[in-house]
Amino acid sequence: MIVLGIETSCDETAASLIKEEDGKTDILSSIVSSQVKLHAEWGGVVPNLAAREHLKNMAAVLKEAFEKAEKNYEEIDLIAVTSGPGLIPSLLVGVNFAKTLSWTWKKPLIGIHHIEGHIYANFLSKKESGINFPILCLVVSGGHTQLVFMKDHLQYEIIGETLDDAAGEAFDKVARILGLGYPGGPEISKKAAEFKQKKFGIKLPRPMISSKDFNFSFSGLKTAVLYLIKSHSDKIKNEEFIQEVSHEFQQAVLDVLIQKTIKAAIKLRPKTITIAGGVSANPELRKQMGEAILEKIPNTFYSVPDFSFSIDNAAMIAAAGLFRWKKFSQKQKTSALENWKKIKADANLKLKNEI
Ligand code: KG4
Ligand code: ZN
Repeated sequence: MIVLGIETSCDETAASLIKEEDGKTDILSSIVSSQVKLHAEWGGVVPNLAAREHLKNMAAVLKEAFEKAEKNYEEIDLIAVTSGPGLIPSLLVGVNFAKTLSWTWKKPLIGIHHIEGHIYANFLSKKESGINFPILCLVVSGGHTQLVFMKDHLQYEIIGETLDDAAGEAFDKVARILGLGYPGGPEISKKAAEFKQKKFGIKLPRPMISSKDFNFSFSGLKTAVLYLIKSHSDKIKNEEFIQEVSHEFQQAVLDVLIQKTIKAAIKLRPKTITIAGGVSANPELRKQMGEAILEKIPNTFYSVPDFSFSIDNAAMIAAAGLFRWKKFSQKQKTSALENWKKIKADANLKLKNEI
């Protein structure tokens, strides 16, 4: 079966074709057109500009996805599109594009939750997947920070989440405070990697690290960096100072994320731990989570998406569509042909269990 995925929830225009055969999922193509440079000028994503770029690029990205996969539209079996959450002007472009294709090509259509896509990035191209349920997934993106427990495919229990800023959002805001570029995550992680040794004695808090629940809070950490910079305003151009702050901030976020994930795993005993979302592209998070699992719960399998599928892409949306389709009854499969009439872009879409 061949699935076309479409993603436009934020500032990446993406289309992908994936193929499933004998239980193995292969990526035939994954095209991502990033608008990072455009939005960097404004220090963050400007929704209407993003929508205009999606409109400009969507058809070309789709064409490239088909060409790279060497397929034509008649060969696809399903279209999966991100229907939320995200920026409404952005979502509307992808959703309406997908609806038009579904109607014109007479192909079934499924709307996918963006975070479900990030989680299913873990099921892409794993030749001998060691992933078994139950899964504990740490979702860390620009808009979400959640610990999700899955007893089976498409069964989501959110056992903890951020009470304020998402982890990615904290990276972006702190990068702005430090005068680094957008998006902040990769910039901070670059500066943190250049850090050699403590010179300024910077110590930041690890918010909620010892709380009894599995929730997170990153807004206080961001404020702590803001006060630190205000009281060291003479050092803002000092490269070693920025490296030390970046390193300490990143480590503070990672300590909380990793400690809470391990604590939840000790309680819930998942067979697999995964990380998903843009922040899972952070090399130190990938590495330190693996080390903590090995040390504390060595019998737990650890899965991380390939780097390019940690950040926004459409292959992950196609994968989530594929797994939803597999659980559909015949009636649901038939009615998916008419979904172009029903699917709506929803900025606040909630993660839903299998329907
Ligand atoms: O999943 P994503 O691409 O978009 C959303 O769904 O939000 O995540 C984007 C977020 C941004 O906040 C970005 O700063 C963060 O992921 N990010 C990183 C890294 N790469 C991207 N955060 C930390 N380290 C990175 N290397
Ligand atoms: Zn994302």
